[in-house]
Amino acid sequence: MTFLTLTSLRKQYGSVAALDGIDLSVTAGSRTAIVGPSGCGKTTLLRLVAGFDAPDEGGIVFAGQQLADARSQVPAHKRGIGIVAQDGCLFPHLTIRQNIGFGLEAEASVKNARIAQLMDMVGLDPAMLARKPDQLSGGQQQRVALARALARKPRLMLLDEPFSALDTGLRAATRKAVTDVLTAAGITTLLVTHDQGEALAFADQVAVMRAGKFAQVGSPREVYSRPVDVATAAFLGEAIVLPAEVADGRAQSPLGVLPVDDIAYRGKAEIMLRPEQITVAQNGGDGVFATVAEINFCGPISDVRITLGDAFTFRLDIPSRETLSAGDRVTIGVAGAAHLFR
Ligand SMILES: Nc1ncnc2c1ncn2[C@@H]1O[C@H](COP(=O)(O)OP(=O)(O)OP(=O)(O)O)[C@@H](O)[C@H]1O
Ligand SMILES: [Mg+2]
Repeated sequence: MTFLTLTSLRKQYGSVAALDGIDLSVTAGSRTAIVGPSGCGKTTLLRLVAGFDAPDEGGIVFAGQQLADARSQVPAHKRGIGIVAQDGCLFPHLTIRQNIGFGLEAEASVKNARIAQLMDMVGLDPAMLARKPDQLSGGQQQRVALARALARKPRLMLLDEPFSALDTGLRAATRKAVTDVLTAAGITTLLVTHDQGEALAFADQVAVMRAGKFAQVGSPREVYSRPVDVATAAFLGEAIVLPAEVADGRAQSPLGVLPVDDIAYRGKAEIMLRPEQITVAQNGGDGVFATVAEINFCGPISDVRITLGDAFTFRLDIPSRETLSAGDRVTIGVAGAAHLFR
């Protein structure tokens, strides 16, 4: 069932088209990630859905109700939508208890029980309830903001970069905890991030945004494995893009003859491989001969630049090994099909 529908949304700030025709369908109980570079319009989109700002054109329909169009708007507090803003936005002069309880209409004992339950949900020590926001770390503040947004049991949750203040390990753990909380409560969620790994791990549906438009909307697998263009491919992860001559589902390329995921196309094209499809062998094996032009050790992985004759060069992250150095001859093997850009 479609729960949230955005139709041709536009929002202009002076000469900047922050949103330039956005269409999106979100099903009830699902998780959508909106991913894109800084300034592409992600926060603007969430602000329009939350009701903090009105679209210039287009419409927002939520749970069968028209929330906004060019003429009228349902006010933010009547939408039943929770938002965790990019900067957390806790009330600095209130305690954590007062922040989470803000706007909760209930008698004290019920309210306190609910606050305790929310603290537990987001994994915070109840001893923090008496503190002010400036006595918490950035990551803890983000979790309080999430608890506050959950307190009113929203039907839709908007999360704007909620994990950005967390370091890598805590980030993954918090993301998992938040995902579990939202799933258990059956809350439909829109997550904004510019971390592509986070988007792919979190969502059922990923919308890749560029300059106020969605370049592509699809499942994590679709957008990662079958991106619409080179820019989308590169944004979602490392991509090795090769020139090719294609016919009958096979591509002649600098890495040899490769199967492609498009049997109809014939002619010149660009094709793409993801790094996990590529093996770099030091002791022969199937594949194409190449040279390691450069290697940078980064711990578990090494960033290598591979050249194939004078014709072609590409970069790749591979698992680090003691024995590989610049100048070595290697064999490049490819597994699976290449993706063809039409
Ligand atoms: N109130 C405003 N007045 C003028 N311009 C604005 C306003 N809000 C946003 N913009 C502009 O609209 C564009 C989109 O901004 P937005 O905040 O939506 O980007 P974003 O994708 O959330 O970026 P980030 O990843 O850096 O948070 C930017 O060019 C921004 O400068
Ligand atoms: Mg933003």
